[in-house]
Amino acid sequence: MTLEVPVLDTAQVKKQFPLIGDTIDGAPIHYLDSANSSQKPQCVIDAMSSFTEHHYAPINRSAYRLAAEATDAYEGARAKVARFVNADHPDEIVFTKNATEALNVVAQSWGRANLAAGDIVVLTHMEHHANIVPWHLLASERGIELRWIPLTEDGRLDLTDLDRLLDGAKVLSVAAMSNVLGTLNPVSDLCAAAHAHGALAIVDACQYVPHNATDVQEWGADFAAFSSHKMCGPSGIGALWGRAELLDATPPFLGGGNMISDVRLDGFTPAAVPAKFEAGTPPITEAIGFGAAVDFMESLGMDAVRAHEIELTGYAIETLTERFGDDIGIHGPRDLSVRGGVLSFAFRDLHPHDVSQVLDQHNVCIRAGHHCAKPLMRLLGVAATARASFYVYNDHDDADALADALEGASDIFGF
Ligand SMILES: Cc1ncc(COP(=O)(O)O)c(C=O)c1O
Repeated sequence: MTLEVPVLDTAQVKKQFPLIGDTIDGAPIHYLDSANSSQKPQCVIDAMSSFTEHHYAPINRSAYRLAAEATDAYEGARAKVARFVNADHPDEIVFTKNATEALNVVAQSWGRANLAAGDIVVLTHMEHHANIVPWHLLASERGIELRWIPLTEDGRLDLTDLDRLLDGAKVLSVAAMSNVLGTLNPVSDLCAAAHAHGALAIVDACQYVPHNATDVQEWGADFAAFSSHKMCGPSGIGALWGRAELLDATPPFLGGGNMISDVRLDGFTPAAVPAKFEAGTPPITEAIGFGAAVDFMESLGMDAVRAHEIELTGYAIETLTERFGDDIGIHGPRDLSVRGGVLSFAFRDLHPHDVSQVLDQHNVCIRAGHHCAKPLMRLLGVAATARASFYVYNDHDDADALADALEGASDIFGF
């Protein structure tokens, strides 16, 4: 029996993204910055504008029908997000502002309640600042020790010393996929290793969830963080998934309305999860958009999304290497089974910002910079990289446009 590889009809997908069909100066746009933030399909835009035009009301507070329906829609979005990552129950999804806030909830609320001077938190050299700085904040406040999993030459986690690093650790917090190297990390194994040492397993799933079928239960993780804006949804909303008993035992993050069951002159009683972590009026319309983005991604099929990215990333690496040889240095593993659609590269000795500016003249949008991963930049021995990242609306045309535009950069800088 041969297993059918699911196929993404990119031509049809492209048509669903208004901006992808736009032009600048009469020429098409090649949007290769989705690891930063993705474009939005019409169905997400429509869901948000229809909710705003015809259904908007505050949630959780008022008894009139419009408000009750808005509350149902908001909770419906939570259920969709929960289903998308296979949470055990919708209440295990806390809506946050983004993945950064989700990781701060864990470090600040769970961390403050559970970590003391001398406790050990294990991170990796490939983490985004969102999974470093909250722990630095806690380290300076509490005196916790940070340990770092090193990397191999080809940009994978070097797990040779994992047992020693985890010895006595209380937390392992790791990216499921690197936003710089594209590396897909062995999350289930890492969670199992953390638990074997009695440590909590936290997953920064920000780059993983938009591109892969995600099952937080299969991972065996304790917390996971991700953002809507990288998976075709709006900015302003993200999610923290946590195991129910852990969320129950974690103190609130922000105080205010909506997160209480009682307030007295001498104190307060927090609401049950997830309201306990959603102080104030939440991003209601954005939650509706997040839910619509989940519907959209499910309509594509996450296996098809992943298969498309493997094919396109392989094509892009092959094309760039064939055309530029040693003049292009692509970071991260070459084995496509352990890398996602992120290509960070050095081109000749051009500064990544110059590369990005010249590519922009060809309507090729890439990111240049440290990608909020300064410790990794130091390890790579660079201040910045150019980064092209692929998503469901990209195809060979975009990879070819990237290569052609790099040729243009060579001409401009006289190579
Ligand atoms: C791996 C990783 N973690 C965390 C974040 C932070 O995401 P956000 O800015 O949506 O909070 C990003 C954003 O690029 C990321 O790539």
